[in-house]
Amino acid sequence: MLRRAAPLFLLIAWAAAKSAHAAAANQYVGSEVCRKCHPDVWLNFYKNPHYKTIASGKEPPERTGCEGCHGPGQAHVEALGGKHNIGAFSEMTPQQALEACLACHRADLGKVHIERSAHTLAGIACSDCHSIHRSPTPKFLLAKVQREVCYGCHGNVRAQFAMPFKHRVNEGFMECSDCHNPHGAPAPLWRMGLRPRLVEAALTTEQPCLKCHSDKRGPFAFEHPAVRVDGCEACHQPHGSMNARLLRRPAVFTLCLECHTGLGAFGRQGDGIAVQSATHDMTNPRYQNCTTCHVRIHGSNADPRFLR
Ligand code: HEC
Ligand code: HEC
Ligand code: HEC
Ligand code: HEC
Ligand code: HEC
Ligand code: HEC
Ligand code: HEC
Ligand code: HEC
Ligand code: HEC
Ligand code: HEC
Repeated sequence: MLRRAAPLFLLIAWAAAKSAHAAAANQYVGSEVCRKCHPDVWLNFYKNPHYKTIASGKEPPERTGCEGCHGPGQAHVEALGGKHNIGAFSEMTPQQALEACLACHRADLGKVHIERSAHTLAGIACSDCHSIHRSPTPKFLLAKVQREVCYGCHGNVRAQFAMPFKHRVNEGFMECSDCHNPHGAPAPLWRMGLRPRLVEAALTTEQPCLKCHSDKRGPFAFEHPAVRVDGCEACHQPHGSMNARLLRRPAVFTLCLECHTGLGAFGRQGDGIAVQSATHDMTNPRYQNCTTCHVRIHGSNADPRFLR
């Protein structure tokens, strides 16, 4: 048994030594060498933000130019090409491709927990949105105009931005990234952090809406908890809506009555808010548009019932 095993053992040792030798021989050769056979890629590369890694001359070879992403090129060059002797993204799993990019971008993207983001967990890799060599614009190296990148997979959202009342994303006035961070987002502080939806907090903790609608920011002497705790989506459809003011319901009172049901220990008086009272008779059209009286619905500095 032992005698038979010996040559096998030697064979393994020899193979291991040989492959260690091959690995040691696979050196970095520099981006200039790639030019001859990949002129199309090379010619535009000076416009790429990654060109900086060559131009600075300060980075070590494993973080420089073509080989910064594709790995050492010597074996590939000596073999006059090939796919399995170089870091070919077409051969990588999404996880491997992600790691190749994060080798340098972990510092910025780690902060937003990219590894746990809804996109990463669904197997979406960087190159589903970015195109390193064929981006129409050097800024952010996106494969297409941003919204078209997103609509490629989220086709239903295009229709939401085509509704009668909407944020003007399709018109190019705003972008998805005004509210979302496609790389990931930490759990937000509103809605008990339950529906992150890659929504990017503004000023680190705020709802993104407040970046632009700063009059709704407060703090108010009398807050409407729905705004602060449940978030703007409690009443508004952030993308678009059939209803004016992007409201979730066509009639304002149906929206309010979803919470102000008159049940339980709910309300400042602690005995529930009886909206079907003599003062709030829902059969009377006058009472149906709640915000004609409760005008400061997002919060007030003067009145606990948001009447002014
Ligand atoms: C920032 C990372 C990065 C750098 C730097 C980079 N590449 Fe690429 N390369 C990629 C990715 C990712 C792909 C896969 C295709 C895609 O997503 O665009 C790719 C694809 C390729 C391909 C396959 C064919 C093609 O055109 O898509 C070749 C060849 C190539 N790269 C060569 C190079 C050369 C030569 C350089 C240096 C001038 C270079 N790459 C620099 C990331 C990089
Ligand atoms: C002697 C010519 C030659 C040189 C020099 C060369 N390549 Fe290539 N490379 C090729 C050929 C040919 C292929 C296509 C292999 C295939 O499709 O099977 C290729 C394929 C690739 C791919 C894989 C593309 C894919 O399908 O995903 C990458 C990445 C790549 N080269 C990067 C580089 C980099 C980086 C350098 C410089 C370090 C370089 N090449 C230098 C000839 C060359
Ligand atoms: C070798 C290190 C390195 C690797 C690997 C790397 N990058 Fe980069 N990346 C950089 C540097 C450096 C910049 C320029 C940053 C700057 O301009 O401040 C950059 C810039 C970018 C930008 C543009 C940022 C902007 O502000 O316009 C994008 C997008 C990007 N990288 C995506 C990727 C993707 C996708 C991959 C993987 C395919 C990748 N990077 C791999 C170093 C790297
Ligand atoms: C779902 C689409 C998507 C994926 C997946 C994606 N990105 Fe991005 N990325 C974007 C968009 C959109 C922007 C532009 C953001 C803006 O306009 O503010 C961007 C911007 C960037 C920037 C520059 C600005 C910044 O936020 O730092 C870098 C660097 C970057 N991406 C790297 C990567 C890397 C590396 C990966 C993979 C680990 C990746 N991205 C995956 C869509 C994506
Ligand atoms: C005005 C801010 C804003 C803009 C702009 C925006 N979103 Fe959203 N989006 C949100 C908010 C807030 C949510 C969470 C809604 C909820 O949980 O009720 C969301 C949810 C989503 C969801 C999850 C939907 C679901 O019901 O599961 C997707 C997908 C999405 N957005 C994609 C996009 C795309 C693609 C774009 C650009 C074309 C975009 N969003 C632009 C604010 C925005
Ligand atoms: C390659 C396809 C693809 C692209 C491109 C893409 N997404 Fe996604 N997106 C997905 C998948 C898959 C999910 C996970 C679906 C799920 O969990 O329901 C997702 C989930 C989301 C979510 C919901 C996250 C959650 O917590 O439920 C938002 C928001 C989102 N994407 C926004 C964007 C934005 C903004 C862009 C453009 C910058 C974009 N996506 C580009 C495939 C994509
Ligand atoms: C990048 C800036 C920006 C962000 C972020 C933003 N909005 Fe807006 N919003 C606008 C602008 C500008 C309008 C004016 C309508 C238009 O574009 O025609 C508007 C309109 C509205 C309207 C309708 C106002 C009316 O008079 O009909 C509502 C409601 C609204 N936004 C709610 C939100 C909510 C909720 C969020 C967060 C999910 C949000 N917005 C995020 C810029 C923004
Ligand atoms: C409790 C439900 C509710 C919540 C939560 C809410 N809104 Fe509103 N919002 C309304 C109603 C109702 C209107 C319509 C008022 C009217 O018709 O006069 C409105 C109108 C608006 C308008 C257009 C008119 C104006 O006052 O400028 C904007 C913009 C707006 N809301 C933004 C926001 C933002 C941003 C948030 C989150 C910080 C938010 N809303 C949270 C109920 C709500
Ligand atoms: C998402 C649930 C929710 C929605 C929708 C909602 N509210 Fe509220 N509202 C609350 C909560 C919670 C309080 C605080 C009750 C308390 O103090 O115990 C409150 C308080 C109030 C108060 C102050 C009186 C009091 O008892 O504190 C008024 C007035 C009010 N809401 C009116 C409205 C109107 C009008 C609408 C429709 C535009 C509306 N609310 C929609 C949850 C909601
Ligand atoms: C005609 C003006 C007017 C309209 C319309 C109106 N309210 Fe009021 N609301 C008031 C006044 C005045 C008060 C304070 C006195 C009282 O409790 O009747 C009040 C009080 C409230 C309170 C606080 C009750 C408490 O126990 O402190 C809530 C909650 C409320 N309204 C919700 C609504 C809702 C929901 C609607 C729409 C279905 C609505 N209101 C429509 C004038 C109005």
